[in-house]
Amino acid sequence: MNLTLKIWRQKDSSSKGQMVDYKVTDISEHMSFLEMIDVLNEGLVSKGEEPVAFDHDCREGICGMCSMYINGEAHGPDRGVTTCQLHMRMFNDGDTITIEPFRDAAFPVIKDLVVDRSAFDRIQHAGGYISVNTSGNTQDANATPISKHAADTAMDAATCICCGACVATCKNSSAMLFVGAKVSQYALLPQGQVEAADRVKNMVAKMDLEGFGNCTNTGACEVECPKGISLDNIARMNRELMKASI
Ligand code: SF4
Ligand code: SF4
Ligand code: FES
Repeated sequence: MNLTLKIWRQKDSSSKGQMVDYKVTDISEHMSFLEMIDVLNEGLVSKGEEPVAFDHDCREGICGMCSMYINGEAHGPDRGVTTCQLHMRMFNDGDTITIEPFRDAAFPVIKDLVVDRSAFDRIQHAGGYISVNTSGNTQDANATPISKHAADTAMDAATCICCGACVATCKNSSAMLFVGAKVSQYALLPQGQVEAADRVKNMVAKMDLEGFGNCTNTGACEVECPKGISLDNIARMNRELMKASI
């Protein structure tokens, strides 16, 4: 495939960015989207030009780093996949593909397609953990019975990879799907009960402080989430917050 790429280039967080056109040729339909950008970058480097900066780590849908906007959608046109799992067979020869960083005030651009998503880390630090005795006499995990439904639902919530696609997609830049998933994975389990009230209050307060917006229930975040995190988690977070507040 031969493609035209329109890519956001921005030197650093304080510089003004712009879309720049590039051509790539002989792209295999079996390549991943990131491999296609690798091909572009090899060409740029061989010409002595600055390669396009983008985040990636695992390249297998686990780390949540490869966040970018492709043709107006977080992680591109496929469903249930991250950008690193997006294959070039989703595109056609001759296509023009627009590639931009996630655009949210809480995720400032660092360079080109790389944004600073450390606001998510700070929300996690505010309550996304449990305190357990690790002194050597820790209770065996299997000693606490958990219903299959609770275990499955908590596991589903725990599959959130902190990619930020929900925020990038939400018209309000809301982080509620992310925070809802993180609150839910503990709220559903007995181990999460001790700190449940403080957890939800602190994480929601931090989310607001970091500048994320509110949820108006459009459901767009659920559609674009690569891990299929359900809107039920936002409802559960709101219930947990209500419970903690009274
Ligand atoms: S809820 Fe989904 S879209 Fe949002 S950060 Fe988690 S995995 Fe990414
Ligand atoms: S449901 Fe809609 S308004 Fe609410 S967080 Fe998701 S995208 Fe944003
Ligand atoms: S590079 Fe890790 S999820 Fe894409």
